[in-house]
Amino acid sequence: MAAHRTRITIIGCGHVGTSCAYALLQHHLAREIVLIGDTQNLVHGEALDLQQSVPLGTPLKIFAGSYKDAAKSSIVILTVGTPGKFSGSRLDMLAGNAVIVRSCISKLMAEGFDGVLLIATNPLDVLTYIAQTESGLPLSQVIGTGTLLDTERLRYILGEKLNVDPRSVHASVIGEHGDSSVAVWSAAQVAGIPLAQYPGAETLPSQEELLTIVRGAGPEVAMLKGNTCFAIAACVTRICEAILRDERSVLMVSTMMTGQYGLNEVSLSTPCIVGNCGVETALELHLNEVEKKALDASAAVLKHAYSQLT
Ligand code: LAC
Repeated sequence: MAAHRTRITIIGCGHVGTSCAYALLQHHLAREIVLIGDTQNLVHGEALDLQQSVPLGTPLKIFAGSYKDAAKSSIVILTVGTPGKFSGSRLDMLAGNAVIVRSCISKLMAEGFDGVLLIATNPLDVLTYIAQTESGLPLSQVIGTGTLLDTERLRYILGEKLNVDPRSVHASVIGEHGDSSVAVWSAAQVAGIPLAQYPGAETLPSQEELLTIVRGAGPEVAMLKGNTCFAIAACVTRICEAILRDERSVLMVSTMMTGQYGLNEVSLSTPCIVGNCGVETALELHLNEVEKKALDASAAVLKHAYSQLT
């Protein structure tokens, strides 16, 4: 019997999809990577180019495949949709991208997929909610990249300004991956020292300025180069790593609230334990009044956006 080969499928062969493929093959997380896209020549060309980039001696097969191929994957990553120009809010892309994502989910589930579905398409949280409520997969197996990227952006900014490794900065962004995201300043710390007391904290921009920088980071890149792809690809790869290695790492990803923060029927980001079943546990941070109010507002924005869909 053929040994089980770890397969990851990427649906969507634009900048994000191909960046995810390249990042994944560099991390040797899968034995096979399947690419699915609308333009067959483009998809086949990307697969050939990526295959020829595989470091010598690393057995990894990359090919343009079908939804039947995708159904045999441990993880399917959705990167389809209109590229994020972010001229306004990411939510402006909802109507068009919801149609595309729904079509992909329908074709994937028709082939009997039962792995982890990882959503990277914007507006991320509402599309994650749609995938969770319409795929038929267990909630744990549908994950949105969420505010993992926002959290990494905040940690990077603080690390740069405080001259410390961003990996030693513990500051979280929760809620919407978008304009209503919430920075949890009350729990922010560096090496166990509350952020406000860390040497050099007095030189930091205000909390409002820092959150504005984080929220504007994606739109700034998209305005300059027309899209964002490498940073989100790094987040996708990190999540795949936690799943395939059953790390049970705590990652800021989007999942359905089931009572956390008093919220239900909305998908947004909170610290989640991620392992081989996907989101094993969605944790609830202790928020102060200001943060709780901001998270409620974020949830309301997402619920309203979903309610506007036909
Ligand atoms: C960004 C996209 C992935 O923030 O929403 O770069």
